[in-house]
Amino acid sequence: MKLPWKAIAAWYRAHGRDLPWRRTDDPYRIAVSEFMLQQTQVDRVAPLFKKFVAAFPSWKKLAEAPQADVVRAWKGLGYNMRAVRLRNMAGEIVARHDGLLPENAEALLALKGIGPYTARAIRAFAFRKRALAPDTNLRRVLYRFFKGPAADPKTFDERSWLLWEQTLPEHLSYEVNQGLMDIGATICKAGRPFCMECPLKTLCRSYPRILKVKTLPKQKPARKERVDADGIPNRIYRGRVIETLRKGPAAEKDLAGLLHVLPGLEKDGLIKRKNGRWVLA
Ligand code: ADE
Repeated sequence: MKLPWKAIAAWYRAHGRDLPWRRTDDPYRIAVSEFMLQQTQVDRVAPLFKKFVAAFPSWKKLAEAPQADVVRAWKGLGYNMRAVRLRNMAGEIVARHDGLLPENAEALLALKGIGPYTARAIRAFAFRKRALAPDTNLRRVLYRFFKGPAADPKTFDERSWLLWEQTLPEHLSYEVNQGLMDIGATICKAGRPFCMECPLKTLCRSYPRILKVKTLPKQKPARKERVDADGIPNRIYRGRVIETLRKGPAAEKDLAGLLHVLPGLEKDGLIKRKNGRWVLA
């Protein structure tokens, strides 16, 4: 198994985004950022995060603040229940942990409002412990990297995840998680990855095959869906044929790699042969 950790950490040092929650070691601020980032985009969170932690600079201050003030300060972030949960959690941390966020996974998970994703993110970012936070970007990047272009990151494969996590050197944990978030957000995008810019391409199991897939599977293929040897559903290839033919007739040589879906498309009445070329029916 080729491991990407060193390459990711090196890339992060050189290219990582400068974000306000990356300029602090304070577990409180880092946890607040993770709460905000759960359902809100980075660009939106950045300015609001700064204002929020300036208004409530510690778990204690947050716990003591009237809930309405906290909800007001949450303006612009959406999903206001998160503000309520975060403030309640502050109360719990003050009451049970002396106002300090616990480091260990069990104690974190025992806090209401912290689930498996947030616990791992906090362990990696606030305490620099070995953890891989399974957020959407990380899942997509690592699934492509380890499993191939058609792997569906929506079905969480916990066994693989734990295996990968065990191979992560703890001293790289912070950078690897941050780096994977940035690689996922800017290079290994859901729709169209920019593999040429990727620091992992020479090690990646999806590269270069992923570049040939026009529309990448976003969802787990239906059970009955036909897939090829790489697990790429036929509908992807079919879509590419139709897209090509929308522009005009195509000879077989123009449809290289797609020939296997032509009979099905013809049978379905979507395409036909005309003067030795394929056209939309
Ligand atoms: N989403 C969740 N945590 C993040 C982080 N630390 N940086 C960027 N995006 C994130």
